[in-house]
Amino acid sequence: MAFNKVVLAGGSGYLGRIVLDHLLTIPTISQLTVLTQSQSVDFPSSPIVNVVSIPSYQDVAALTLALEGHDLLISTLSRVATEGADEALVSAAIKAGVRRYMPSEYSVDVLFPHAIAIAGTTVLAGKIAIAQRLQRLAEEGRIEYTTLVTGAFLDFWLENATPVIVPKSKIITLLDGGEKKMTGVTTSFIAKSIGAIIAMSPEAAKNKRLRIAEVEFTGKALLHTLEEVTESKWTVLERSTDEVFKDGLAAGERGDMRGFYLGNIIKINFDGEGAGYFEEGLQWADGIVERQTLKELAAKSISRVFAV
Ligand SMILES: NC(=O)c1ccc[n+]([C@@H]2O[C@H](COP(=O)([O-])OP(=O)(O)OC[C@H]3O[C@@H](n4cnc5c(N)ncnc54)[C@H](OP(=O)(O)O)[C@@H]3O)[C@@H](O)[C@H]2O)c1
Repeated sequence: MAFNKVVLAGGSGYLGRIVLDHLLTIPTISQLTVLTQSQSVDFPSSPIVNVVSIPSYQDVAALTLALEGHDLLISTLSRVATEGADEALVSAAIKAGVRRYMPSEYSVDVLFPHAIAIAGTTVLAGKIAIAQRLQRLAEEGRIEYTTLVTGAFLDFWLENATPVIVPKSKIITLLDGGEKKMTGVTTSFIAKSIGAIIAMSPEAAKNKRLRIAEVEFTGKALLHTLEEVTESKWTVLERSTDEVFKDGLAAGERGDMRGFYLGNIIKINFDGEGAGYFEEGLQWADGIVERQTLKELAAKSISRVFAV
């Protein structure tokens, strides 16, 4: 049985909007329900789209009603929203008889021992609990899951100011000497990967944590690419991932929780210990999902950064 009737939670968000637009291009989807708490978002109008207003992600009865008759629930809720909503969302999906759930993980491999050692009780605790709960529920035969383990969203990291890149000022920090290999994805690659999962036999991705990757690169290769696409020299700073991690801890002590989160996630994603580098992911959906080169995706991001 294919996934024809799909629900998307978080379709108004950064990743969700790209996923929603891609789902609308898949001819086998006959019904697309978008759950939202927002009153002000304009979703695309389409005969297959039904926008359902969710007053609270704690209301299992209302969620169950909204999920009835669907085969696949995809969450692209924000990290914070996911931690509050996931348990009720999955309970409702089970009650409604939804076959498959794709959680809003889209991160480092949160079940990788190094990730657990660094941030298992802090910034990754919520996503780890969700991943473990899903594995348990799948073993009990209550719901299936497919989790996309993506590592870094390169469009996010290339377009927003973080301790790694300040794109508008053309500043890049080479981490650990800039020679460690990294992998990453774009949000459009994730959306197309979800489409590929919908198109494949349901057994192929059943109860799998798929470590996916669009490109492999190093910090130095990224610097070279950014200088090439902007036709200008970038300011280069050098730091170790341990220093960035310590900065994050100091930020946390000052109450700067974004800084705390970034320090942790930069360390886990880019320190070369395997929680954010997925060599096998470079073969994922080869020939099915098109990959951009580092230069192509960097050029798109840079053009968005400097668009007036
Ligand atoms: N690996 C990476 O580099 C990377 C980068 C960015 C994000 N991510 C991950 O990608 C996933 C999606 O993130 P995103 O940045 O796309 O999320 P987002 O845009 O911040 O939020 C997605 C949607 O979640 C809902 N939402 C947000 N805050 C909420 C709250 N406090 N309470 C209830 N609902 C709320 C909203 O939907 P409605 O208003 O429609 O209900 C929103 O549009 C997350 O798991 C995130 O951790 C990964």
